[in-house]
Amino acid sequence: MIIEADYERTTGHSMAKTTRQNTQTDVKPITVPDFLTAKSNGLKLTVATAYDFPTAKIMDDAGIDCILVGDSLGMVVQGKSDPLSVTLKHMIYHGEMVARAVHHSLVVIDLPFMTYQESPSQAVRNSGKVLKKTGAHAIKLEGGRRVSETIKAITNADIPVMGHVGLTPQSVRRIGGFKMQRNEVEILEDALAVEEAGAFAIVLECIPPDIAKKITGTLKIPTIGIGAGPHCDGQVLVGHDLLGLTTGFHPRFSKKFADLAQIIKTAMECYCTEVRTGKFPGPEHTFK
Ligand code: KIV
Repeated sequence: MIIEADYERTTGHSMAKTTRQNTQTDVKPITVPDFLTAKSNGLKLTVATAYDFPTAKIMDDAGIDCILVGDSLGMVVQGKSDPLSVTLKHMIYHGEMVARAVHHSLVVIDLPFMTYQESPSQAVRNSGKVLKKTGAHAIKLEGGRRVSETIKAITNADIPVMGHVGLTPQSVRRIGGFKMQRNEVEILEDALAVEEAGAFAIVLECIPPDIAKKITGTLKIPTIGIGAGPHCDGQVLVGHDLLGLTTGFHPRFSKKFADLAQIIKTAMECYCTEVRTGKFPGPEHTFK
């Protein structure tokens, strides 16, 4: 749990003031146009991934601008080593829980591997399915110039698209691993193609901060960075990483804002001890 005193000590900011400072002070839902307004007003956008109702509800109550149901689901929830086996059914199942929990944040759902690469019509059909079945606000897909026709087709169907360039985990087989992307010309051309195709925002993943700064200054749509330095218009982190729920590998660019794994482990040890020693359930937990 992020304790208010801890938050204020480590960040130097008042949590109450920081919460919801960006786009509004009440629970008015954030819309796609609000993303563009945030950029023109110089307000940083906050994004994190979530995959279930209770986590999404807590994040929404905390005032986050956008919850991404990422296909990182494959790694952080399903325990796989990459996102390639995630299906549209998985994304709809988790996306529906998240969208139901949320009153304020914009909910964006990833199109998983091979649900949009085949053709623009496949992409439009699957994006429509995701929005209709989950109630989410937008979809995200990976790639630059090679998916620009696809992004155009989806936005022409009135479905908002968030782009994603730099390190694109669905290309992990072709790239040969989760590697930082450094080719400035290619990344910039890809980002411009995504904007030109009609995306309302773009994730920049694992690229050098100077390239991210240049792209952020060039594009009209907001850039959302992950491992791309401080100059982006917003930041996204995998929720499990920022909450300290991921055990084992922790990406260098991520930051643990809490250590929930330790808190859960301690709680479970207490529960086991109390059951084994007969302390739980006590009279107050027992029906008369
Ligand atoms: O799948 C995901 O979680 C993502 C974010 C890391 C941007 O694409």
